[in-house]
Amino acid sequence: HLDRARIAIETHARLVPDFPEPGVAFKDLTPVLAAADGLDALTAALADACAGADLIAGIDARGFLLGGAIAHRLGIGVVAVRKGGKLPPPVIGVDYALEYGSARLEIPASGIDFHGRRVAVVDDVLATGGTIAATLALLAEVGAEVTDVAVVMELDGFPGRDVITAAAPVRVHTLCTG
Ligand code: PRP
Ligand code: MG
Repeated sequence: HLDRARIAIETHARLVPDFPEPGVAFKDLTPVLAAADGLDALTAALADACAGADLIAGIDARGFLLGGAIAHRLGIGVVAVRKGGKLPPPVIGVDYALEYGSARLEIPASGIDFHGRRVAVVDDVLATGGTIAATLALLAEVGAEVTDVAVVMELDGFPGRDVITAAAPVRVHTLCTG
């Protein structure tokens, strides 16, 4: 499935020259998700990475698109890890630092029994690792056992993978670099 996913990314991703800075060719994954074979190929490969989980946590916002499709493939459920202020109370949240300012992620504090669940975390892109590290902290707080992190694209020149594995003993799966 991995080869097929890589071909789908090469086929459908839109290359944006000199973004976010001169000399960098940014791979926009939006058209990959919009193509039937692209969504199928990405979610098949990511589902392989999440095979041991019994719950998928999809991160706001493209992690929702991927997470729902992956969970459906695996026959398990999905929970949205949302940006602050979107979920009804009670919530459990974590604030984390961005390059400029800060951000907040939240999950429901009631209605889902996270304790002892084997959770796989899904997002589209891994850069500094701050978003996923914050998600891991949240899920640890509610007693979930995160086994795997599955992301479509790992950006070159960022320490995300090391930040994640320093935060928790998880496997980090990525389909491509960019
Ligand atoms: C992007 C991307 C990841 C995150 C990765 O999302 O979708 O979620 O950044 O960056 P990090 O590894 O440095 O934390 P963004 O917060 O820009 O918002 P969006 O998903 O709503 O577009
Ligand atoms: Mg995001």
